[in-house]
Amino acid sequence: MKNMLGKAANKGYAVGAFNILDYNSTKAVVLAAEQANAPVIIQTSAKTVIFWGTSAIISWIRQLAGPSSVPIALHLDHCKDLDLIKECIESGWTSVMIDASSKPFEENLSLSRQVVEMARPKDITVEAELGAIVGVEDDIHVKEQDAHLADSQQAIQFCREIKPDCFAPAIGTAHGVYKGEPKIAFDLLEEIAAKTGIPIALHGGTGLSDEVFSKCISLGCAKVNISTQLKYAFIDGFVAYHNANNKQYNPLKVIEAQFNQLKTGIVEKIELFGSAGKA
Ligand code: 13P
Repeated sequence: MKNMLGKAANKGYAVGAFNILDYNSTKAVVLAAEQANAPVIIQTSAKTVIFWGTSAIISWIRQLAGPSSVPIALHLDHCKDLDLIKECIESGWTSVMIDASSKPFEENLSLSRQVVEMARPKDITVEAELGAIVGVEDDIHVKEQDAHLADSQQAIQFCREIKPDCFAPAIGTAHGVYKGEPKIAFDLLEEIAAKTGIPIALHGGTGLSDEVFSKCISLGCAKVNISTQLKYAFIDGFVAYHNANNKQYNPLKVIEAQFNQLKTGIVEKIELFGSAGKA
């Protein structure tokens, strides 16, 4: 993932990171990236890893991404559990995110440092977070009153000490569905990206406007996370097909409709982020 993000940051585009749910959604991400000829990040939440187990997920990835013509990274999204991070590193994930952002600053530094020390000798990319991103992602729930932006001085100190390969400062985006217009701290993003020189991950991608995406990418976001969009397509694609054909009871047709809805939305986002043709 580090190489992908380095190229993206240099060329001014972003790589889409899509949270998969099962084999069908993993296939949708891989085939969307192949259709767009784009590098892509397959992202797993900690809950998804626990639900299926690492060996099932790795077998889908080897089958789908192994022979693929496009670069594909496998990334563990928001993880607070160092044992799970270790298991993913040992199982074949190419990238991990330590999310110790709910801890006091010094503790976040210490936990993030431990993950860097675990990952770097194996050439595994590390993403780390600072600040508190509002909304629900996996089993991390941040209420509006508890959300806060990353502090720019702390962000600079954090990146100088930890040297993550990818940095996720809270800049006003939210996980889940936006209630009202998001207030993005573009100045903060610009300052952190410029002063740290580290590719920034934009969390809470679902529901942001095209203008917000392109501004964030131009200011240094080289990775854009999309999860809720896939959850909606996963369920809506399935339900819509069944509602339109409710006497059919043909599961493969339903799965195909779900796959098509997922893939169409992923291709659109890849094109929007400017990574199409960059494989
Ligand atoms: P959304 O669910 O808002 O797309 O956010 C995804 C995300 O940031 C995952 O870490």
